[in-house]
Amino acid sequence: MIKTCIHKNETVTFYDKGKGRVVVLLHGFLGSYQIWEQTINNLSKSYRVIAIDLPGHGDTSCFGYAHSMELMAKCVKTVLGFLRLKKYVIIGHSMGGYVGLAFADLFPDNLKGLCLYHSTAFSDSEEKKKDRLRAISAVKANKNVYTVATIKNLFASKNLKYLKPEISFATSIAKKTSKKGIVAALFGMKDRFSRDIILGLVTYPILMVIGKYDNILPCEQLLEQAKTIKNGSILYLEHDGHFGFLESQKKSNKELRKFLRKCF
Ligand code: MLT
Repeated sequence: MIKTCIHKNETVTFYDKGKGRVVVLLHGFLGSYQIWEQTINNLSKSYRVIAIDLPGHGDTSCFGYAHSMELMAKCVKTVLGFLRLKKYVIIGHSMGGYVGLAFADLFPDNLKGLCLYHSTAFSDSEEKKKDRLRAISAVKANKNVYTVATIKNLFASKNLKYLKPEISFATSIAKKTSKKGIVAALFGMKDRFSRDIILGLVTYPILMVIGKYDNILPCEQLLEQAKTIKNGSILYLEHDGHFGFLESQKKSNKELRKFLRKCF
């Protein structure tokens, strides 16, 4: 069921399906709760799944000109507080993983597990920060051209010809994101802090999902990072880019279920 609540006088939209232990899904940049459609349908057979539209995405409002990862994490906490939920696992895709880490930092008592799905605990490099500023100019110049090219780049190039329905599905969601929402997320990601220290400190399970052909986050760096996790495991997707849950749906669901059994 689609639901809403209020955070700082603005509307936050989320989807609530299933019963039992709680799994929170946080989409990536240019996504919405809808990007998780098949993951929600699968996991909600055994869990209560809460999939949230992050600020400036889907049907959730914008909160300002820059959406920091902390602002997004507080918005997530408002939803979970509104539902009176105390313990949950967060699965965050890319930007959703940066938000998950900010959540882990701000609200350390609530997590039973964290999945960084094509995500990293490191902040942007200086080069990447420059790319973000170039991206902001590109969005302002032509949002549609920018979103189409960005989504395409999230799939492994070898998968492009097989996954046309998945690409158009992700593109149609991305196109609904407002210019203001896109720019605010780019500023927020550019200025986010490194949170690698959390990986070595927390005792709950952390799963890193890593795509061999990820064009955004090089898999070698993520494999190194995964070694620093205290209670960590890796799901290495040898055929995928940055969208494993769309590129390898069955495998993704099976491994997420395995991870959730470990957390609860
Ligand atoms: C995402 O998929 O959320 C973004 O590509 C993350 C990023 O640009 O760092």
